[in-house]
Order: sequence, then C-alpha cells, then structure tokens
Amino acid sequence: MTFSKNLRNWYFKNSRNLPWRNTTDPYQIWLSEIMLQQTRVDQATAYYYKFIENFESITDLANADEQELLKLWQGLGYYSRARNLHHAAQQIRDEYNGKFPEDYKTIRKLKGVGDYTAAAIASFAFNLPYAVLDGNVFRVLSRINNDPTPIDTCTGKKLFQAYADALLPINDPAQYNQAIMELGALICTPKKPDCPTCPVQEYCKAYRAGTQLELPVKSKKIKIKERYFHYFIPSNSQTIYFSKRSAKDIWQNMFELPMHETEQDANMSDQKPNLPFLKKQTPIELVFQTKHILTHQRIIAKFYTAHFIDEMANKQFIIIENKDYSNHPVPVLIAHFLEQYLG
Ligand code: ADE
Repeated sequence: MTFSKNLRNWYFKNSRNLPWRNTTDPYQIWLSEIMLQQTRVDQATAYYYKFIENFESITDLANADEQELLKLWQGLGYYSRARNLHHAAQQIRDEYNGKFPEDYKTIRKLKGVGDYTAAAIASFAFNLPYAVLDGNVFRVLSRINNDPTPIDTCTGKKLFQAYADALLPINDPAQYNQAIMELGALICTPKKPDCPTCPVQEYCKAYRAGTQLELPVKSKKIKIKERYFHYFIPSNSQTIYFSKRSAKDIWQNMFELPMHETEQDANMSDQKPNLPFLKKQTPIELVFQTKHILTHQRIIAKFYTAHFIDEMANKQFIIIENKDYSNHPVPVLIAHFLEQYLG
C-alpha cells in the first residue's frame, strides 16, 4: 500500500456525501469552491442549493443583477466573493460563449479564482492532474513531513506545493484531492487530530516525533483592528434611510443605515456629533449595540434614534419604507438590528 492508496480507501468508506461531490459540472463545482473559501461546509450548503436553484446556468448568473446576488449571498460573508463570481460569470458569457473553460490556465484567469480554486475545478470537473493546496492540505502536509517552514511565506507556499505535487497520483487526481482535504477536515484537525484512526499514520513524521499540535507554523499573527460604527435611524418614522457602501472597504456595494465612524469607543447620546443630516438639538437615544467579528476587524456597532433633517437626508441617502428594508442586501449586523427594531 502507498500513501495515496491508503488515503483513497479511507475516503471511500468515510467521506461525507456532499452535493458538489456528486457532479462533474464545472459550474456547480466552481460555485461550491467559491462558497467554501473561508466557510464551513454546513454553512455553505444551503447557499449552494439556493444559488443552483436561482441560477440554473452560468449565463443566468451573469445576467443577474448584482444586488440580487448580494442579497442571496447575505449572511455568508466575504462579499467580494459574490461580486467576483458575478464578474467571472460575465467573463465566461462574453469571452467563452457561456461555456466554462476546460484548461487550468484559462480557469485560473477567472476573477476570484486563485491557485487552489483553479486546481480544485480542474481536477474535480475535468480530472486534470493539479494538486490542491488549501488550509487543510497545508496542515496535513506539514505534519506528514514534520516541516516547520511557515506556510504563509513565499518559500513555504512553493515548498508545500512541491510536497503536494509529489504525492498526487496522476491516474486519479479528483478523488485524491477530495480525500486529502477530507482527511484534514475529519481526522487531521487543528487542535484534536485523531491520529489513532488516521489511514496515513505510518507515513506521518510529526506523529512519530509527537509534534502534530505544533504544526503547521505561521509567521504572522493576524492583527485585529477595532472599529466603532454609529448608525442612525429616524425616531417614530415609517421610513428609514439607506446608503450604499462604495468605498474599497468591507461590505462594498451593500446597504447600511446612515453612519458615523469614530476612532475610539464613544456614545453619541452624550457626544452630540455634528452630522449634517441630524437636527442640531436632536435627542439621540442609544437603542441597540452589538459586536461583529470579521477576520481582520472587530466592529463595535451602536444604533441610535434621532431627528433627521429630511431635506438633507433625502439628498444624501435613499428613502426606504420600513416594510421594504429586507429587499436590500445589508451586512448581517444591520439585518439583525432591523429585524429586532422594525420586526
Ligand atoms: N472545502 C473546500 N473544498 C471542499 C470540498 N470540495 N469538499 C469539502 N470541503 C471543501
């Protein structure tokens, strides 16, 4: 037996039955891989079905309205994925007659498709011999080789890609790629790897050295920036205001309530901010607060009611009937507040 045979035998008996594993349709595989980037399988699955139902073909997806796409993506996070998906669908519609490209180089050129995703699509849809290297595979390979080279460096990426390429069996890249990721997801997990049941334990140098929990190594610690967002809603009104986030920042092209950002934590009820759309003497009442954790940012959000100067607000924002707010794509923290406040 070899490493890849052990792995494949284990995969046949123990893998999860996931919807995108029962197809070789590159559209469905592409969609699933984009959704699974930084997202757990159980969270992505419902969205995957929703997208397949709403957009039967790549051209349907390309012809959709970006706002509709963002609305369907709402809650999944990393919204640039939805914008890139839309852009890539239009690339496929316009440059490849709506047919998904079938070679690695062309697949890799699609917006939002990096090395990992291109290898996943090329192997799962077309059985091409490209080895995938995602977080799970980095972990498995760092342990198999007992290699402490940091995985988030240029050298590390090249080295681990070489390990991955060397193990890939040319005759069955699709199953093998699924299997090594599945091993990382089910057995070779970050904190509690299940080494006693591991099908490739005999090949694992970290297991022999007892260093599993120290691997993989990363050189940089993620820095988390705290941000303080203050959102305003008119007191006693049948309407609210939305503005579209356009800056290159989180939540681009999604909607939010009129907002003021501060450098430090603050309470606008005491501070009386000078905002052109609020009446000078308005009482400002804090009605809700929440924290929202993203990969690189922690958002501390406070929500207030206040009296608006409608002539100013009308120019700066769009007016939304309270009952219609859910038609617009908004970040989850806004959706939670509006659900609670407006029902
Ligand atoms: N994560 C990324 N791609 C995956 C796949 N094809 N199956 C399960 N988890 C994944």
